[in-house]
Amino acid sequence: MQSFEALLKEFTGKFANLTFKGHPESLYEPNNYFLSLGGKRVRPVMVLMGNDLFEQIHPDAYQVANAIELFHNFTLIHDDIMDNAPLRRGMTTVHEKYGSSTALLAGDVMFVAAYEQLAKIQPSLLPKILYLFNRTAREVCEGQQLDMDFEKMSTVTLQQYIEMITLKTSVLLAASLQMGAILGGAGEGNQKHIYEFGKNLGIAFQIQDDYLDAFGDPEKFGKQVGGDILANKKTFLLIQALSVVQGTDKKELELLLSSNPADKVQRVVELFKKSGVDQWALELKAKYYDTAMQHLEAIAVLQHRKEPLQGLANFLIQREY
Ligand code: IPE
Ligand code: IPE
Ligand code: MG
Ligand code: MG
Ligand code: MG
Repeated sequence: MQSFEALLKEFTGKFANLTFKGHPESLYEPNNYFLSLGGKRVRPVMVLMGNDLFEQIHPDAYQVANAIELFHNFTLIHDDIMDNAPLRRGMTTVHEKYGSSTALLAGDVMFVAAYEQLAKIQPSLLPKILYLFNRTAREVCEGQQLDMDFEKMSTVTLQQYIEMITLKTSVLLAASLQMGAILGGAGEGNQKHIYEFGKNLGIAFQIQDDYLDAFGDPEKFGKQVGGDILANKKTFLLIQALSVVQGTDKKELELLLSSNPADKVQRVVELFKKSGVDQWALELKAKYYDTAMQHLEAIAVLQHRKEPLQGLANFLIQREY
């Protein structure tokens, strides 16, 4: 099986040809801007890796990978509006640069472009891929709505948080791998295991994302550090802090959640540190990582073929950007 780096090179070479053209340019140019900013391209490479684990890469895998990356970029453009985010991939977000109405429409047209890619795949493969794609896209919307609902709620349980991040983030990683596996001719059992591998890894991936949002290095992260704190996001950090801090610290945290002082981020980060979030983040990530690995192990192919996926998993949960 090929390495992540090799498949990333294959993918980016082809994906670079995909540019938005048409009239009015004011609709399409923002998408070209956004795609030019890059990103890790993890999900499309997961499509290729899911395929490559079982069988030589199917020509349609590139269309599916394109569709997945376009869909992901569409969700980011809309997510940045919802999260009021100024920065993405180290650059100005689409809505900040072009306005929210254009960002909504550019995102919409990016979503359409994802379906245009899917529409090109072999008819015999389409029903299964389309079913999984549509189910996943709907789940991402559900997760994003829960994320919004939770901003307004004062208590959210860890279980509710896990459900929310599963929907908004991890099912897309899971589906990317499963689509690849479908293209690679994997059986139902192997498809289920690769999906569960991606789902659990995706949960650990979002835990790391939430950790970096509070503790990341602004130079490396590429997004505004503290954005989740400003939006009162119910991340595991806040859930943990609310359950651990006591006395005046608890009062301060509650006050910070209901107000917006200029030093909010700094003060909340201090309270996070006091509640031992580092250890908690490691434990939580390890729990989902371990479950992911059990599913990877259960896939019925030679163990050494799985090494690139193991490497990817390690990178994703330790990433700094
Ligand atoms: C960002 O995903 C959105 C989350 C689900 C955390 P990535 O961290 O994969 O973003 P890019 O594509 O590499 O910029
Ligand atoms: C994003 O979660 C999930 C989706 C885009 C669907 P976040 O809001 O945490 O992602 P970032 O941090 O903005 O990339
Ligand atoms: Mg968000
Ligand atoms: Mg966001
Ligand atoms: Mg985030």
